[in-house]
Amino acid sequence: MALTPPLLTGARPLVGHAVEFGRDPESLLERGLTEHGGEPFQVKIFRRKWVVVLTPEDTRKFFRDKALSHRGAMPFFERMFMPEFFSMGPEDQYRRQRKLIEPLFNHAAVQTYLPTIEAETSAFIANLIETQGSEGEFDVNETFGPLILRIAAVAFMSPAVADDMDLDFFRKFRAFSEGMTFTPGWVPSARNRRSRRAGRELKAALRAMIRDRRENPRPEPDFIQTLASRRYDNDTVVEETVIECLLLVLAWAAHETTSAMLAWMLTDLLQHPDLLVRARSEAEQALGHPDPVARMPFLAACLNETENWHPISPVLLRKADADTTIRDYPIAAGTMVMTAPSMTHRLVEGLNDPDGYRPDRYLSEEAKAQRLTMNLQGFGAGTHRCLGKPVAQQEIPLIIAILLRELEMTLTTGAPRPVSGATGSKWPASPCRIAYRVRSQSAG
Ligand code: HEM
Repeated sequence: MALTPPLLTGARPLVGHAVEFGRDPESLLERGLTEHGGEPFQVKIFRRKWVVVLTPEDTRKFFRDKALSHRGAMPFFERMFMPEFFSMGPEDQYRRQRKLIEPLFNHAAVQTYLPTIEAETSAFIANLIETQGSEGEFDVNETFGPLILRIAAVAFMSPAVADDMDLDFFRKFRAFSEGMTFTPGWVPSARNRRSRRAGRELKAALRAMIRDRRENPRPEPDFIQTLASRRYDNDTVVEETVIECLLLVLAWAAHETTSAMLAWMLTDLLQHPDLLVRARSEAEQALGHPDPVARMPFLAACLNETENWHPISPVLLRKADADTTIRDYPIAAGTMVMTAPSMTHRLVEGLNDPDGYRPDRYLSEEAKAQRLTMNLQGFGAGTHRCLGKPVAQQEIPLIIAILLRELEMTLTTGAPRPVSGATGSKWPASPCRIAYRVRSQSAG
C-alpha cells in the first residue's frame, strides 16, 4: 500500500502551491490531473497538504465516506459564521440545526415560493423599463444578486424583511463572502477585514429582528418568528446566535450561488440562438400553468447543462475525522481532502464531449438510461448535498422563462469568463452586460 498520494510539482518554500491556487485553482488542479492521470495527488497550501480526488469513483467516496466531514475543513466558514456552527460542529448538533431549516425545502414549501419568484421577476422587469425604457442594458452580476436576495428574503423570511434589504444590505453580503479564502484569518488582509465588518453588521441586523419577534410575536408568523419560537426536540430554546447564523447562511447560500447559476444559464442560452428559440417557445406555453416548471423539461435540461459546464463552487472540502482510505492510500485522521466538480464533470463519459453546451444530452432515452444527471456535482452529493437544490431548480428556470417571454436579449460583452482567483463562487466576471428590448413593443 502506498504511503501518501504524490505531491504535485512546483510547491514553493513556505507557501507551497498557495500562490498558484489563489490565482487559478482550476488550472492548478488540471495540472495535477495531467501529471497524475487521475490518481489522487496532494497540493500544499501554506503549511497544509490537501489530498485532491477528481475521478467520479474517488468523488463518490469523498461525498459518502462518513469519516470525511466539514468539521475543521473550512476554517473560513467558522470565522464568517461562528465556531462549530452547523456541519462544522458535532454530528448530533449539526443534525439538530439542519432539522430546523429542512421544512423550508420540502415540495409543498417550495411550491409556495413560485408566486414570489414570478412577482419579483416581473417587478425587476418593470423596474428596468421604468428606469431605462423599453430598450436598455443591465449587468448580470449587479442585477441578479439583489433580485435573488430579495426573493430569498420574501420567501424564507417576509416581505417586510425584504423591504429593509436595500442595496447596502446586498453589498454587505458581497463583502461578507470575501471571507471565503484560504488566507489564514490572522493575515490582516483587506478582504478579511471587510468580511468581518460586514458579518458583524449583518448579524446585528438579524439579531435585532429575532429579539423583536421574541418580544413582539407576530400574529401571522414569518420564518424568523417560527425559528425564534422553535425549540429543539429536547425542548431547549434555540440559541439566538444559532438562529442568527441560520438566517445568515440561508440568505447567503441562497443568493450567491443561485444568482451565479442564473447568470450562467442565461448567458449560455444567449450564445446559442437555436436553443434560445426552443427555450422561449417552451416558456411561453408553460407560464400561466399552476406548476410551470414541471412543463419545462427543456429548460430543466439547460439548467443541468449549465451545472455541467459552470459548477459554482470551484472546490469542495473535507477533513478526515477518523482514519480511512481512498483507493490504496491510507488517509489518516486530520488529513484535508478536496475535490473540484468542474474537473470531475470532464472525466464523466457522456458529459465531456467536445461539442460544448448541449442540453439535449439529458433528454434522449439513452441519456435517461445512463442517468447522466446523477453524475453532476454542482450541488454536491451525499451527506452534504445542497439543501436548497429543489428551490434553485424551480427558481432559475422560472426566472429565465419570464425574462425570455418579456424581453429580447443579447450579450454585449462577449462570451463571459469566470471570475479569476480562488473565490467561493465562480460567477461570470464583470462586466457581463445584456442589452434588452421589450418584446411586445418590438412586435408592435
Ligand atoms: C444554484 C444554486 C446553488 C448551488 C450551485 C449550490 C451549491 C451547493 C453545494 C455544492 C453544496 C455542497 C457543499 C459541500 O459538499 O461541501 C451546497 C450545500 C448547501 N446548500 Fe446549496 N447551492 C445552491 C442553492 C442553495 C439555496 C437556494 C440554498 C438555501 C436557501 C442552499 C443551501 C445550502 C445548504 C444549507 C447547504 C449545506 C448542506 C449540509 O451541509 O447539510 N443552497 N450547496
